Parts: sequence; structure tokens; C-alpha cells
Amino acid sequence: MVLTERAPAKVNLSLAVVGRRPDGFHELVSVVAPLSLADTLTWEPATAESLACDDPTVPADGSNLVLKAAAAYRRARPEAPVGRFTLAKRAPHGAGLGGGSSDAAAALRLLDRASGRPMGPDRLRAIAAEVGSDCPLFVDPRPCVLRGRGERVEVLPAEVAAAWSGRRLLLAKPSFGVSTPDAYRWRASRGAYASPVAAEAALALALASGDPASVVALGNDLQDPVFDALPALRKGVERVRDRLGLGLTLTGSGSACFALVGDGVDPDAVRSVLEPDWGGDVWTRLVDLA
Ligand code: C5P
Repeated sequence: MVLTERAPAKVNLSLAVVGRRPDGFHELVSVVAPLSLADTLTWEPATAESLACDDPTVPADGSNLVLKAAAAYRRARPEAPVGRFTLAKRAPHGAGLGGGSSDAAAALRLLDRASGRPMGPDRLRAIAAEVGSDCPLFVDPRPCVLRGRGERVEVLPAEVAAAWSGRRLLLAKPSFGVSTPDAYRWRASRGAYASPVAAEAALALALASGDPASVVALGNDLQDPVFDALPALRKGVERVRDRLGLGLTLTGSGSACFALVGDGVDPDAVRSVLEPDWGGDVWTRLVDLA
């Protein structure tokens, strides 16, 4: 028996940071959409738990979120089946595209299927929240609004998903990543958060427009702090705006950026413009909202 799950990447179309909690986490209001770009995770029974990955730069030890998710599942259900995970990595990591969290949620779905007694998405989301703030959204990946530290997931109506599905995005990622704790620390050092009431009101208006571009226009509150800490990132984005007329926005804590695009955008041309600032190993790709 070999079970397979797709683990889609995501973008944060918008991200408002609306406060800091006593536990150090930040309160968010963020619109997230899954992408056509996806890793694939398989599971088969074995005598010991293990993880193999086709990307040697991804750690396959206990620090990988797949094995952390399996451990969290086993805490909730000690009799959980034991097996071998195999990960085909397609989404860049350290990028704010949620790859590791999505892999972890796929691991929970696989173990739940293999158990023969599925707990279902609500229980899985609670287990996923132990693995990471971004993980619950990937239990049933659909366009959604994240609140709290990201673990409160409001799935958007099916009409929204249908209207957004197939919209094309350009993704661009430099050779360097951004650590999520660093990004939030840089944001925290500025104080003064957006008001939650204002963020919700702006979000309601943007969603009512039916156009994902209105949501993207709300912006990402982590972008300025991350761009200030990593000026090369901002420089590349400015160059793409000036040379190609394309407005890139940071996704999550970065380092990947994205733009909603129409036909005729050449990812190789964007890469050439970015390389002087972003380094020699820039990754660009056209993908769709799933
Ligand atoms: O939950 P996750 O492991 O993704 O979070 C990594 C770190 O990012 C947290 O330890 C915290 O420093 C920061 N973070 C935050 N507020 C959030 C999510 C993450 O401050 N909503």
C-alpha cells in the first residue's frame, strides 16, 4: 500500500499584523491562496519511521516538519501506523510559500488515511497548529483568511475560490531565504500595529470586489521591515517595477515575491532583471492560483 498526497504551496495575497501577544506571537489578518505548484508526499508501511527527500538541501531528519507532524499525530493517537515518507520537493523552501507546513499537513492526511479511522479535518487542524502557525491552513488547502497567529482558518466561500482559480502569478525567489522569527522581530522593533477593526474593514471591501488584485493591494506588513533588513530584496523589486512595470509583493515572511500577471510575462526576463541584486541563483516561475 502506497498512499500519495499533494502538498501545494501558498501565497499570502495580503498580510496585516494587528498586534503582538504576550506569548511573543503576532496577531494576523491574512488572505492565503493555494497554488498549482506542489510537492508530493507518499507514505508506505515500514518497520521504522523515516523520511527521504529528492532535494539534498532539505534536512530529512527530525527537524523536518513531516517528521514533527508524524510525532504530533502519534501523541494524539499512539497506535498510529508507522511507515516511510518520501518527499518530492518542487516548491522552494525558506521562501514564505509554506512548503514545509504544507508537507507537514500532507503527512497528517496520510497518517489519518493509513489509520483506517480518520479523525477528520477539525482534529487534524488542531494537531497541525502544534507543528506551526501556517500548518492548519494546509489540512484542507483552499483560499482562506487566517487570524490569530495563523491557526484560525476561515475558508472563503466556494464562489471566491472559483473566481480566483486559474489566475496567473509570477513567483520570484532569491538564492537567500528569510527566517520567519527574524521577519517578525524586525516588524516588532517598529511597534505600532495596524488596528484589527481597520484591517477587517479593508479586507471586507477587498473581498467584496471579487478581484484578488484588490486583496493584493492591501499589502504585506512584513514587507517593509524585511526590505529594510535586506536592501537587495527591495532593490530588485524596484528594478522590476521600473524596467518591466511589474509590482512584486513579498509573500508571508519571504524571501519569495509574487505578482498577479496576465499573458506575456516572461519569467526569464524577470530573472535577468533581478539577478544583479538578488544573486546568481534567482528562481522565477509562472504558477496559477489553485
Ligand atoms: O509558528 P511558526 O513556527 O511558523 O513560527 C515561527 C516563528 O515566527 C515564531 O516563533 C514567532 O517568532 C514568529 N511568528 C510570529 N507570529 C506569527 C507567526 C510566527 O511572531 N503569527
